[in-house]
Amino acid sequence: MNMVAQKAEIFEVGPRDGLQNEPNAITLAEKIALVDLLSSAGFSRIEVASFVSPKWVPQMAESAEVLAGITRNSGTSYAALTPNLQGYEAARNARADEVAIFASASEGFSRANLNASIEDSLRRFADVAKAAQNDGIPLRGYVSCVTDCPFDGPVAAGAVARVVGKLRALGCYEVSLGDTLGRGTPEKMDVMLKAVLDVSDPAALAGHFHDTGGRALQNVDVALACGVRVFDAAVGGLGGCPYAPGAAGNVATESLVRHLRAHGFETGLDVIVLDAAAEMAKAMRGT
Ligand code: HMG
Ligand code: MG
Repeated sequence: MNMVAQKAEIFEVGPRDGLQNEPNAITLAEKIALVDLLSSAGFSRIEVASFVSPKWVPQMAESAEVLAGITRNSGTSYAALTPNLQGYEAARNARADEVAIFASASEGFSRANLNASIEDSLRRFADVAKAAQNDGIPLRGYVSCVTDCPFDGPVAAGAVARVVGKLRALGCYEVSLGDTLGRGTPEKMDVMLKAVLDVSDPAALAGHFHDTGGRALQNVDVALACGVRVFDAAVGGLGGCPYAPGAAGNVATESLVRHLRAHGFETGLDVIVLDAAAEMAKAMRGT
């Protein structure tokens, strides 16, 4: 009997969440080449830029140049991170197809990453949300530290659900749940997801799992069982977070695509292109 594959989507974040953490100087041409190769793999969405303070994340300082230099695929949305109105305006001027606001479920990480409490960050994001709505630019949301925080320790599931609800109320079409530290266990993930499902349909959620503890693929399985069908990943397992000490890279796109396929989920991505992009990403990292 032939099993009909269900659909799942991988949202590629390597050029942003991956490269932002790399201490090596990576040239603009290399960044553009990586995005252009990824564009031919069949992604609907690739996060390629981050309009944050260049003092905070120097590697993302050329984000406008990246968006100007890539060859855009008509079927792909090129996304950018925007922490405030200043970042949003820069992203819009650089013709980002969609933008993302990024909150935290823990106060310690919010202060380390955004220099603001959770409430203050949400106030800034409300300005971004309003502007994006006026301009007709789709808005995505992230919640970081959904199970553990490098500063505050374990994070309550209710705190995650609360921030997810606020981001959905601001108009985020999808909220990505970040295991920023990559230490989440399947058990914690299950408790967190069940709390979040009280405030959001699974169709408006994504999983964003870093792989520090080697459990990211198991956490994907937990999220699949809860009805989540979108997962962020970074080609070559690039990444970490400059403001989350000890965090390793995102789950690797080329591993996730094979894992999903083995579990009956088709992503439509070209694995040969992904393997080539993973090699390119690893060379950029110098590993
Ligand atoms: P601040 O220092 O409090 O900002 O930083 P400020 O408003 O006081 O402004 C200070 C200076 O920054 C001013 O310049 C501003 O113009 C400038 P000065 O007058 O000193 O020359 N500035 C900016 N410059 C460029 N773009 C901007 C911008 N905003 C202000 N948008 C701020 C506050 C939010 C800017 C800072 O904390 C920041 O940039 N944080 C971002 C940190 C970051 O990118 N972290 C990594 C991404 S998040 C993540 O990895 C998690 C995620 O992947 C999910 C997961 O894994 O869980 C999404
Ligand atoms: Mg991340």
